[in-house]
Parts: sequence; structure tokens; C-alpha cells
Amino acid sequence: MKPLGRLRLGVNIDHVATVRNARGTSYPDPLRAGLLAEAAGADGITAHLREDRRHIRDEDITSLMQGLSVPLNLEMATTPEMQAIALRHKPHAVCLVPERREERTTEGGIDVAGDVARLKDFVAPLRAAGCRVSMFIGHDVRQIEASAEIGAAVVELHTGHYCDLVAEGRTAEAARELEALREGAALAHSLGLEVHAGHGISYDTVAEIAAFPQVMELNIGHFLIGEAIFRGLGSAIEGMRRRMDTAREAAA
Ligand code: PXP
Repeated sequence: MKPLGRLRLGVNIDHVATVRNARGTSYPDPLRAGLLAEAAGADGITAHLREDRRHIRDEDITSLMQGLSVPLNLEMATTPEMQAIALRHKPHAVCLVPERREERTTEGGIDVAGDVARLKDFVAPLRAAGCRVSMFIGHDVRQIEASAEIGAAVVELHTGHYCDLVAEGRTAEAARELEALREGAALAHSLGLEVHAGHGISYDTVAEIAAFPQVMELNIGHFLIGEAIFRGLGSAIEGMRRRMDTAREAAA
């Protein structure tokens, strides 16, 4: 199949808040980063309100909702507290992620297949409120099918393992993982799900994932905020945008 149009870039600004919180100051401001990202070509802003508020805080969600022109994708755990917050703000998209306090980042995908009834109930009011609900999952067939079953509009495929394998130079395993992601993207698309991808993506790994014809959006944070230290956030995002567009055109 041909690529389905322009690939969207969602910029995750969590780690702007991580730096702010390290000193307990009011800066750097995640909204300012979001506005800069918009100007540099981001199609959306992603923020993860974690249960422990280690980076993004409740008042950041308020200011992002009020200040951004592009859509906000709110990442959150499937807890009643987070559901109430999402229903209060009604962001464009809600991406449901697993969360354990001790992890450094979101380490695995959500177990949709093992929690179908609860997640169906969890997702229903979010859908009714007009949020596009996305499940952050691995490429496992069961998880993809269960995401369709519970009424999610979107799956975001977890690319973290693939990116780790590339970084470690484990080429053969990386190729297998990429193939599994490719098959997962095709299956999800065939079930009517919109396909996104994210986690761990850098300049070294973006092209292969951007070339998947079914993928409509990438969500990228850690690498971009790190790269911004050296070349500025706008330039870091523009560099990613260029690589995405080049990969997309080459795959067409
Ligand atoms: N997508 C989801 C669902 C995530 O949880 C994260 C990390 O917060 C990302 C994308 C972005 O990952 P990274 O910061 O490694 O680019």
C-alpha cells in the first residue's frame, strides 16, 4: 500500500518539566517549549501526567490546553483519577499507558488483552467526551485485536525495544523486531485502527519507522529534548521533520 499522506510529528515535552522540577523553579516552561515546537513544525504536543507528577503537573495540562494551537495528546495511566482529569480537560487525544512508579520511563506496552472488560468501561466515557483514545502497546497480535475490541481509535506501537537493539548494535535482532512492528502496523490498520508509533526514536531510528505506510503519527520526546541542548529545540525538531519526510518520500 502507498503511504497514507503526511506523517504527523507529536513532540513530547515531558523532559522540559523534568529539568524545571529538578530545581523547583518555574522555568523552563513546558508551554513555551510546546509553542516553539509548534513553530518548528510539530503537529501535536504530547505530555504524560504521571501519577507521581515527576515531570508534567496538573497546572501544565491546564496551560497546554489553553495555550497550544495544535492538539494535545495526554498520556496517562488507566486510573480513575486520570480519567477524571481527562474528562475535565477533554484533550484531542488520550494515550493510555501502563505505569509503575519505579520505572524510569514507560517500559512496556499496556496489557489490553488481559483487561478487556475494565478497559472497555474505561475508554467509553473518554470516547463519549470526544477524545481519540490510543492504546500504547507492543506489536503482539492479541494486544492489537483487543485494542480494536475495546473501542480504541488508535494504537501506538511501542518502538522502544527496536531502538534499544539498534543502539546496542544487535542488527539481526533489530531487523526481526522491525519486521514484527511492520506486521503489527499492517494488522492494526486492517482492523480499522489508526497506527501511531513511539518511544526511544532518534535520528538513527526514525527513517525505518517513518517508512511504514500505515503509520500516521510518531511521538518523540527524550531524544529531541536532549538534542535541543546542543542545537536548540526548533532546529532539533526541524531535523526530525526532514528525516521523516525524506523517509516517507523514499517509501512512496
Ligand atoms: N509514546 C509514549 C506512549 C510514551 O510513553 C513516550 C514516553 O513518554 C513516548 C512516546 C516518547 O518516548 P521518548 O521520550 O523515548 O521519545
